Amino acid sequence: TQRPYVIDEMISAKAIAARIEALASEIAAEFSDTNKLVVVGLLRGSFVFIADLVRELHLPVEVDFLEVSSYGDAMESSREVRVLKDLRAAIEGRDVLVVEDIVDTGYTLSHVLRLLETRGPARLRTIALLDKPTRREVEIRADWTGFEIPDEFVVGYGIDYAQRNRNLPYIGKVRFPE
Ligand code: PRP
Ligand code: MN
Ligand code: MG
Repeated sequence: TQRPYVIDEMISAKAIAARIEALASEIAAEFSDTNKLVVVGLLRGSFVFIADLVRELHLPVEVDFLEVSSYGDAMESSREVRVLKDLRAAIEGRDVLVVEDIVDTGYTLSHVLRLLETRGPARLRTIALLDKPTRREVEIRADWTGFEIPDEFVVGYGIDYAQRNRNLPYIGKVRFPE
């Protein structure tokens, strides 16, 4: 059973869209010399962000997904990253952009980077919509970050709490009233 909670808006859909436009032009500049970019979304959390991001990236891209999970239904990371579905593409010699919704402890992104490194990509870059730097346990930083946020449990725009609220169009924070 779930304790009742409310969600307060933290980052509006409009603010997210504006930030993605700016990030997309930086990414397009970085990868302007390639026609073999593979954009890899980490499921499930990144599905909304990657959909909006690739539509602002005016480059030839392939879209692929890797499913990893470490939180399950909990509010706290298990610190064990399970790969549930692998990529379809072979990334050896290719340019890869990993798209993540949020970097919190850092376990998920660092695990994925270590895994993908072993496959010999030409370039491996990362983007995260949100970053909670105060929660980091593994030293890692995405190459591009949308917003740095304080230590709040956030939902929406792909991010869940116990698999719910991924479909909110904005980022909200979870609050438990007394
Ligand atoms: C969440 C989130 C990130 C990760 C960040 O995924 O989407 O992938 O945790 O946390 P970390 O930096 O502490 O590892 P989750 O495991 O909840 O799976 P999901 O994307 O399917 O919700
Ligand atoms: Mn995730
Ligand atoms: Mg989750």
